[in-house]
Amino acid sequence: MPSIVIVGAQWGDEGKGKVVDLLAENASVVARFQGGNNAGHTIVRGDEVFKFHLIPSGILYPGTTCVIGNGVVVDPTVLTAEIDGLRDRGVDVSNLRVSANAHLIMPYHLMLDHAHEAKLGKLEIGTTKRGIGPCYADKASRLGIRVQDLLDEKILKQKIMAAMEPKRLMLRPFERDPALDLHAMTEQYMLHGNRLERHIADTASLLHRALDDEELVIFEGAQAALLDIDHGTYPFVTSSNPVAGAACVGSGVGPRDITEVWGVAKAYATRVGAGPFPTELDDELGEDIRQRGGEFGTTTGRPRRTGWLDIIALRYAARINGMTALAITKLDVLGGHDTIRVCTGYQTSDGAELDTFPYHQTVLHHAKPIYTDLPGWHEDITGCRTVDELPENALGYLRFIEEHAGVPISLVGVGPARDQIVWLGERSPLLAA
Ligand code: GDP
Ligand code: IMO
Ligand code: MG
Repeated sequence: MPSIVIVGAQWGDEGKGKVVDLLAENASVVARFQGGNNAGHTIVRGDEVFKFHLIPSGILYPGTTCVIGNGVVVDPTVLTAEIDGLRDRGVDVSNLRVSANAHLIMPYHLMLDHAHEAKLGKLEIGTTKRGIGPCYADKASRLGIRVQDLLDEKILKQKIMAAMEPKRLMLRPFERDPALDLHAMTEQYMLHGNRLERHIADTASLLHRALDDEELVIFEGAQAALLDIDHGTYPFVTSSNPVAGAACVGSGVGPRDITEVWGVAKAYATRVGAGPFPTELDDELGEDIRQRGGEFGTTTGRPRRTGWLDIIALRYAARINGMTALAITKLDVLGGHDTIRVCTGYQTSDGAELDTFPYHQTVLHHAKPIYTDLPGWHEDITGCRTVDELPENALGYLRFIEEHAGVPISLVGVGPARDQIVWLGERSPLLAA
């Protein structure tokens, strides 16, 4: 029953898509377990670039089954468009399975996401405005509409009616005439149901069979540890649990079904949206990293905030995920600096020094990074494929991360392409083809 959970170790966009694509070659199933189309996972194959929002990053392998698990929130308009887009590019999507228990993002969820952000004004979270938070809120309120409801018009209409009534009141101050038409919405979602019916399945049972048959299963996380609704920088978080524990809840397997947990982290740090980011570089250097790293949102196109690697936050992410390995991406982007800084502590507003991630929001908001300076490198590493080809200082940087994060690094990204990786440790025996 080998399985690997791939999770984001920072604030998202670490390169999870690329890592999943690499591992998926040997996998029988790749399953998403939380989040929705707030995610944007990029895969570069030769000249082709794929950006996935809902469909798991294993879809490019015709033999791999791709599961959208019960913990994902599905916008059917986005999913059907993504399926069409892939078909147009000649990708076979017949192995896509969507959990009948996954919740649906409805038009009023998008409206509410916009309205909540508008109401917060300067205090806005900077959500992707994809309706993610309001959809999870309805799920918890037991007012959610699920994928299986698309298969029965009467039930669908009843449920939409019950869910929509309170939304009219909530939206009244924001929209003069909220376009919430029960019949039109039911009709539109029934059409989505027709399109998606062939993909709807009991995905938990599918995963149980694969695990029982000792096939490799990859669980693909979206977002990241510090955006986790319980463990992240609340309220500047997403509305799901991107940590590894959620792979079980969001797909229907047990903790003993998880063999390894790989965290993906950039060699530096980025964040999109608002919220604390102690190592942020709000200067020319930060802009340089943004340009060189192409740090613009995959989903919204927003410029990503950039900063130095925060080892305190990374060690925290490693612990709450129970990471067995780290994949460090974008090491190539950090070349060309005489000195590379790593945050190895925080100074609090009352002068205390911390070497752990503060649990209190106010402390984190005022925390100033304490840096350790390491020597940089100037060589172009995009052509490196083995550890011996990496400059000494680049390897020194990686060893520093391993030691301070307390997790071995399995692979390192030296460019966006599939082959631009260096295996640092031993390849996991789970990946033996
Ligand atoms: P995800 O959301 O975690 O899957 O990451 P995104 O796809 O949103 O953002 C990561 C970006 O970095 C994408 O544009 C990738 O093509 C790119 N990328 C991934 N790994 C590397 C790497 O090692 N080096 C460089 N230069 N780019 C990378
Ligand atoms: P991937 O999977 C980076 C951020 C948003 C915002 C906060 C809440 O590509 O790493 P939401 O729309 O989820 O309610 O927004 O979370 N966010 C992401 N940031 N990568 C993502 O996904 C993100 N998904 C959500 O910018 O700050
Ligand atoms: Mg992304």
